[in-house]
Amino acid sequence: MKVSRMSETLVKNYYTGYVRKEWRRLIKDAYHRLEFETTLHFIKQHFPKNGLLLDAGGGPGRYTVALASRGYDMVMLDMTPANVAFAKRQIKRSDVQDRVKDVIEGSIVDLSCFDDNTFDGVICLGGPLSHVIDKRRRDKAIRELVRVAKPGAPIAVSVMSRLSVLVVELTLFPQEVEMPHYQKLLNTGDYRGQYGFTACHFFLPEELRAAFDDKGVQVLELVGLEGISSSHRKELNRIARNEKQWKIWQATHLKTCTHPAVVGTSEHMLLLARKL
Ligand SMILES: C[S@@+](CC[C@H](N)C(=O)[O-])C[C@H]1O[C@@H](n2cnc3c(N)ncnc32)[C@H](O)[C@@H]1O
Repeated sequence: MKVSRMSETLVKNYYTGYVRKEWRRLIKDAYHRLEFETTLHFIKQHFPKNGLLLDAGGGPGRYTVALASRGYDMVMLDMTPANVAFAKRQIKRSDVQDRVKDVIEGSIVDLSCFDDNTFDGVICLGGPLSHVIDKRRRDKAIRELVRVAKPGAPIAVSVMSRLSVLVVELTLFPQEVEMPHYQKLLNTGDYRGQYGFTACHFFLPEELRAAFDDKGVQVLELVGLEGISSSHRKELNRIARNEKQWKIWQATHLKTCTHPAVVGTSEHMLLLARKL
């Protein structure tokens, strides 16, 4: 089997086993809500107030439901059938089925089910692009995300960060720095899904920006979604319990999360672009 097929199967199998966990992931505590709420904050800044959005790699549908509730018309697509089935149920349960025009099983590498210039905005969040291991296919996925956006439409893509995953090796899995996969991760950002997590490409910030440079977009900004709180889950959850301190920390986060020194070390990086 080709490597790209194998990693696709690995990714599908992984997410099939984590549907409910994925649905809870973005709201399970203040630390995880930081990724969700910071993403929504920047969508609010850069996206039109209404229109038709594509949620590509939408997983169990957390952003589709949130944005449909805010008045957007949504189309969701994901590669994992179990996520697609779960998202359909959540959309009904959340009573936003009138706003959600379609939920499709498919890959971001081939969006041929959509015409050019269809969407008023495109989102691809929480790492679907990181799960496309082959660089040529990743480039194709980016071209597809741009192709289906209308000229002038915003595109928001978030991926997993290489520098941050190295910190995770230090804090949670120090024994892994002796293993063969560690050097590959350090030097290329590629992880084939041998231990724990599934196949993933972890990005450097300059690499993420460069990937969009020649794709017919203007890159507007990069954001570190967990920002300076990245890898400080316990401490962040503690400060979130104090209303006054939490307000100040949230403001600190928003003031610092686009700083170049912060973006690359954040667990998730968000790129905002506009189709030319
Ligand atoms: C971490 S989840 C993120 C889900 C959602 N966007 C969120 O932020 O909650 C990653 C999702 O990407 C999907 N995915 C991975 N590779 C994909 C591909 N090539 N095309 C479409 N979806 C893909 C997986 O099935 C999974 O649902």
